[in-house]
Amino acid sequence: MSVQTEVAKHDVKNLELADEGKRRTEWSERSMPVLRQIRARFAKERPLEGVKLSACLHVTTETANLMATLRAAGAEIALCASNPLSTQDDVAAHLVRDHGVHVYAIKGEDHETYYGHIAQALAFGPDMTQDDGADLVGALHMIALNRLDDLAPPIRKWVEGLSKQERSALVSAVRGSTEETTTGVIRLKAMAKEGVLQFPIVAVNDSNTKHMFDNRYGTGQSTLDGIVRSTNILLAGSTVVVAGYGWCGRGVASRARGAGAHVIVTEIDPLPALEARMDGFEVRTMADAAPLGDLFVTLTGNIHVIRPEHFSAMKDGAIVCNSGHFNVELDLDGLARIATERRMVRNLVEEFVVKGRRIMVLGEGRLINLAAAEGHPASVMDMSFANQALAAELLAKESATMTKAVHRLPVAVDQEIARLKLQSMGISIDALTPEQVGYLGSWDAGT
Ligand SMILES: NC(=O)c1ccc[n+]([C@@H]2O[C@H](COP(=O)([O-])OP(=O)(O)OC[C@H]3O[C@@H](n4cnc5c(N)ncnc54)[C@H](O)[C@@H]3O)[C@@H](O)[C@H]2O)c1
Repeated sequence: MSVQTEVAKHDVKNLELADEGKRRTEWSERSMPVLRQIRARFAKERPLEGVKLSACLHVTTETANLMATLRAAGAEIALCASNPLSTQDDVAAHLVRDHGVHVYAIKGEDHETYYGHIAQALAFGPDMTQDDGADLVGALHMIALNRLDDLAPPIRKWVEGLSKQERSALVSAVRGSTEETTTGVIRLKAMAKEGVLQFPIVAVNDSNTKHMFDNRYGTGQSTLDGIVRSTNILLAGSTVVVAGYGWCGRGVASRARGAGAHVIVTEIDPLPALEARMDGFEVRTMADAAPLGDLFVTLTGNIHVIRPEHFSAMKDGAIVCNSGHFNVELDLDGLARIATERRMVRNLVEEFVVKGRRIMVLGEGRLINLAAAEGHPASVMDMSFANQALAAELLAKESATMTKAVHRLPVAVDQEIARLKLQSMGISIDALTPEQVGYLGSWDAGT
């Protein structure tokens, strides 16, 4: 049953930006050799022929290359943004004009428009979805469970216009979804644990060729890029407080140290805290670190990691930003409550005055690498989106036999992506000799 066909073809800022988006997407493509190989195979084999895919991803040049790959595989696509500030308007225009993708995304869109765009991606009537933070799949599940009060108002309004049958057809048409990021995977695993997951998920983030490289090296470099682009500060000689020493935090901490900063790490888990200490970083509580930092970056996937008591202990001129998936890592409502003044002092830089001291919040607390810079370099997204493309192929072929759980791609696929990436970098590695294979498979060989 077709759920709804009367959707606008796109909602982007300006189609005249398409040439620039095309040029920049081609520039990224040069650094995406693994995805290019997959695209060439997909163009021959057409594994997504007939698939209607709704994707909720950051609309960047790298995503444009993923979309082109999925189009080559035969998919029809609707794309909305996974963050109100991460859209590159020229790329959105290019995807509409040159790839026939129904894009609903405008950089800086307000809450209403952001969720209205998610509603349009759902109204596309997908049989497969791709998510970055589980906003799309989360909404589908609220519809499935009839928890309409938990939907954002623009989505709710649209759903209320659907009949019961249309709502259930919308959900049951979806044979599976992929999820890009840590925060989304955590949410989906919670749904699986509660037994409410309606279809199988492939957790792209769980592939080693995703989190070990994208989260660490991609977020590490692009987070600092966003901070520097929005403020032009010198990192050398400053004290940078990194909250969370997971994959992303490790990347930011090591890159900040490389740029000459003194780095303090905060954690809630003893293991990564110990690892940070042994990696040579100072480890403190946020309460202790608050008066010391010149720059604060949160990368925890958690809520209210920096709260009013921390903001009020910060020094004059402290800069605060977030690179975790949602802006809830900073208690910005709490900051607004204790601030006596607030004003924009520069593009993407808002100054709050607390106890006579100025605190600068970057990019409304949204992921700073996408709000103020271009997100991860294409070279690292090459592997993440190779995983996305292969996960879509897996769902197209095998979703009928997959359980309604959170799956990862087979280890062999992960290894193949790493092998292709090494090959593209001109790097060879040794192969096991027959003797070594025997040795590693035995238990009785001594010294
Ligand atoms: N900016 C980007 O482009 C980008 C890219 C990938 C992932 N992400 C997001 O970044 C976040 C972190 O991802 P990750 O892969 O590093 O996750 P992770 O699970 O590897 O690490 C998170 C770390 O934060 C710690 N933590 C949790 N609560 C904390 C608190 N209150 N104070 C201090 N530390 C705390 C955890 O113990 C853990 O070590 C997620 O929201 C993820 O979705 C962003």
